[in-house]
Amino acid sequence: MRTPVIAGNWKMYKTAREAGETIRLLCDLVADVSGVEIVVCPPFTALPAAVEAARGSRVAVGAQDCHWEKAGAFTGEVAVPMIAELGASHVIVGHSERRQYFGETDATVDKKVEAVLAAGLCPIACVGETLKEREAGQTLAVLERQVRDGLARHLGTRALVVAYEPVWAIGTGKTATPAQAQEVHAFLRKLTAKLAGQPVADGLRILYGGSVKPDTISALMAEPDVDGGLVGGASLDAASFAKICFCARAQKQ
Ligand code: 13P
Repeated sequence: MRTPVIAGNWKMYKTAREAGETIRLLCDLVADVSGVEIVVCPPFTALPAAVEAARGSRVAVGAQDCHWEKAGAFTGEVAVPMIAELGASHVIVGHSERRQYFGETDATVDKKVEAVLAAGLCPIACVGETLKEREAGQTLAVLERQVRDGLARHLGTRALVVAYEPVWAIGTGKTATPAQAQEVHAFLRKLTAKLAGQPVADGLRILYGGSVKPDTISALMAEPDVDGGLVGGASLDAASFAKICFCARAQKQ
């Protein structure tokens, strides 16, 4: 039995004050949601306020990116020990927006996941194909490359969570159908079994991300290999994110 994870990626939204307010509301709303891990990932500047607001609640806090070195001359970057010291427990790695706009590659994903695990935190590692790749019939080949080059070494680590985010579904309102998500999730689990063994594959949480909303999460999570969601826009509002957490629990009970 895999415990579902619902993670909110706030991207470049919310100041520290706004983050604290939203998380306080969220904590009240999800106080009764058991059996689901709930994570909120605000911008770096809001991490201390988010951790403070979430203290003693069911909500964990994560960062959206990190550098792979522990320290060094890397202007503007943030190291994992800095994130850990603030009390965050998760780090999103390899988001398609990082790959598209900031030069993230499978090789840097591999190094970042290693750094997150070394600090005892949980990486939420993102993979996903672009629309062009899907239309060219390359979806599974792209995912296989992203897993082999970025994640293969780390698959056996229980803390690792994988998120499948088709790039064409992010922020477009165009969710993958439950069948499309299941096809890819099943493929990722099979590939994991091949690379790291069946027990690792059976325990790996694979989240779906891309226009997840309160009214689409249930059908997605009804699929056997969908273990949760990585939610962008719909996680910014406490009520809508809480609703997604409730639906996720109902679906996997
Ligand atoms: P949306 O839910 O806004 O499509 O964003 C998805 C995402 O990128 C989560 O990481």
